[in-house]
Amino acid sequence: MTAEVSWPALVRCPGPGCGGPLKHRVPKDKGSALVCGRCHTLYPVLGQVPILVPEPAIYLAEHRDAVLAALAEAGEADLAAVSMVQALVAFAPKVAARPFSDDWVDSEAQGGLPPHPHLDADRPGHAGLATLLSAHAAHGLAARVQALYRPRPKGAVVELGCGAAPVLAPPPGVTHVVADLSLRAALTAASRSGAAGLVADAQALPFRPGRVSTLVALNLVDLLDDVGAFLDGAHHALARGGSLLVATPEPSLGLGDDEALQDVLQGAGFEISGVEDGVPWLRPHTERHLEVYLTQVVVARPA
Ligand SMILES: C[S@@+](CC[C@H](N)C(=O)[O-])C[C@H]1O[C@@H](n2cnc3c(N)ncnc32)[C@H](O)[C@@H]1O
Ligand SMILES: [Zn+2]
Repeated sequence: MTAEVSWPALVRCPGPGCGGPLKHRVPKDKGSALVCGRCHTLYPVLGQVPILVPEPAIYLAEHRDAVLAALAEAGEADLAAVSMVQALVAFAPKVAARPFSDDWVDSEAQGGLPPHPHLDADRPGHAGLATLLSAHAAHGLAARVQALYRPRPKGAVVELGCGAAPVLAPPPGVTHVVADLSLRAALTAASRSGAAGLVADAQALPFRPGRVSTLVALNLVDLLDDVGAFLDGAHHALARGGSLLVATPEPSLGLGDDEALQDVLQGAGFEISGVEDGVPWLRPHTERHLEVYLTQVVVARPA
């Protein structure tokens, strides 16, 4: 069971240069949708997840097989949803099929570290790794972000690029949204966390100005072509006094030194209120394959 959100109060049209208000529409026999009151673009809602990307029909055409598979996996491939996808794809230009940008390991989807039977803390060289694994629950990236999160009485909490493993547990009554460019990620994260799922592109955020109190983006900024577009959208979306929590294993953003992320944040009108560097992000692929990143976590607020 995922949370109900009043979408028209939280989001707006992500169409290029539009930003118009959205309202609910139930097209005949074709599932539910949000429609823009200004440019009239129809944004489908699939498995309770609105697809709020700038070109929803092209998104569906590119990812049609992945969308249908994700809906089936989530038990949401009803006739109305499938008809909606087919109807929009029928009017979209022909585009090459692409999979989602999903990037998660099984243990993240299952919500915990797997056992490590080949690790023996008494063996030379193993002790440090055993300590890292046991410390991760208390001091790893998810734990640090939870500790840095400050609940606010108003405004939505949004975890963007959530993958399968959203980290926050906002107090009851707070609108909690898990958003990703991948429908499969949004459906998986929503069912795991009980938050509301949303498909959105970080580079064209669909939030109404000032409606978000906390925006979390973990291990996402280094994947974006246009970090500036993301930060502009985040700046508009955040309420006065709201927070942006960003973590990345590549704070240089390919631009130079490790201060680059902080410089780009300041250039986009954010004030930095905290930086923790070297926060471990562990990705246990299997019992024998463990990936370790040392991330930089930056907390910022609109200046
Ligand atoms: C490396 S994973 C990080 C997942 C999770 N935040 C974590 O730290 O474990 C990156 C996620 O960002 C999503 N993503 C990639 N580009 C995106 C974009 N432009 N907008 C929103 N999400 C995006 C991917 O689908 C993927 O789920
Ligand atoms: Zn519009």
